[in-house]
Amino acid sequence: GGAALWGGRFAGGPSPELQALSRSTHFDWALAGYDVRGSQAHAKVLHRAGLLSDDELARMTAALDVLAADVEAGTFVPQPDDEDVHTALERGLLERAGAELGGKLRAGRSRNDQIATLVRLYLREQARTIAAQVIDVVDELITQAEAAGEAVMPGRTHLQHAQPVLLAHHLLAHAWPLLRDVDRFIDWDVRAARSPYGSGALAGSSLGLDPEAVAADLGFDGPVENSIDGTAARDVVAEFAFVAAMVGIDLSRLAEEIILWNTKEFGFVRLDDSWSTGSSIMPQKKNPDVAELARGKAGRLVGDLTGLLTTLKGLPLAYNRDLQEDKEPVFDQVTALTTLLPAFAGMVRTLRFDTERMAQLAPQGFSLATDVAEWLVREGVPFRVAHEVAGACVRACEERGIELWDLSDADLAAISEHLTPQVRSVLTVEGSVASRDAVGGTAPARVAEQLAAAKERSTEY
Ligand code: ARG
Repeated sequence: GGAALWGGRFAGGPSPELQALSRSTHFDWALAGYDVRGSQAHAKVLHRAGLLSDDELARMTAALDVLAADVEAGTFVPQPDDEDVHTALERGLLERAGAELGGKLRAGRSRNDQIATLVRLYLREQARTIAAQVIDVVDELITQAEAAGEAVMPGRTHLQHAQPVLLAHHLLAHAWPLLRDVDRFIDWDVRAARSPYGSGALAGSSLGLDPEAVAADLGFDGPVENSIDGTAARDVVAEFAFVAAMVGIDLSRLAEEIILWNTKEFGFVRLDDSWSTGSSIMPQKKNPDVAELARGKAGRLVGDLTGLLTTLKGLPLAYNRDLQEDKEPVFDQVTALTTLLPAFAGMVRTLRFDTERMAQLAPQGFSLATDVAEWLVREGVPFRVAHEVAGACVRACEERGIELWDLSDADLAAISEHLTPQVRSVLTVEGSVASRDAVGGTAPARVAEQLAAAKERSTEY
């Protein structure tokens, strides 16, 4: 090995196979910018502790600035001998500051507290980007909900027609969980905003360095309470991975519906040409690939979470090299979501709903049977009886191949004395949705309130 950080007690360098196994620069180089920022903050506390002179701090800072610029420009890159991002950057610092000065920076810190800090810095920034992209999807859903007005559709349970609902109500049912995901990132950030820097290898630093100063410098709310916990805990990483997976799950539900709605059989929605793809053999095809990739990436996002949790299970305190495996899963999630979310927003923005077809199907499949039962309850009939009577109506219709509103006054009276012609007031989709007018219900007035609330929430962030 070339510039290993730990050569002193070893007679020879690591075997090539170990080097190949150990190396992590092909992924942890993504943290290089944060590492240099951490070093800048560390240099300042070394100076405040009297371990760097004024002149040394000035030269160290200048050398780190040059290093940061070279990393940014891509003129400084890791070499095969560099074990990890920290090793590579130490080499870069020694080259720029000289071995004498550069060799002073590592005092009082360990790669263990460094890496734990860098992952948090990285994830806190990514969480902000992802949350903003999630809000973009929410905004597209809100815009579609607003455009849908009072358009109706078949609401489903078990994928069977259940009760008619407003299309806007259904679209907003996809917006709220995404808003909660944004809240989850915000809540998570409270826990992520603690800096492990100063924890050292595990026991803290003996050199009079101030973890609070480094924490403040790096934008954290404060240092971790426990140096062992600071270097060993990855629950913050796992919690990020959960929220990222949850975003994937929430998108995949909407994706699955769009895929179904876009079939010939449903015909509820048409995808815009620029948000669908063709087939290399079937000239007529227009495929919902954005939605399918969203569904597929949800699996991958869950896999990343599962892999990470499995790595963490049963690990003793404090740092173990297993923890190097924490990064690729969340890096993969970040790549997956930051490429998926903008495309998903574009697909939602350009959906065109066939509201006529949806309206036509809304009352089919006896989706107004509950309205009959609830109308009877309002007439003073016990619900158990009302349920039976409405069920008998459905049975009669099924036998004759007709719909509920095709039953004549005589048919209704024959089924139950309680079924007067007034029941027809709820045998329309409009009557049905209008009757569900408690908070959160599908009545147009309630959905309008809900829409206003969702709009307000999405602009609050
Ligand atoms: N590259 C390691 C990681 O990603 C940090 C280095 C800690 N290595 C060590 N031998 N203590 O977790």
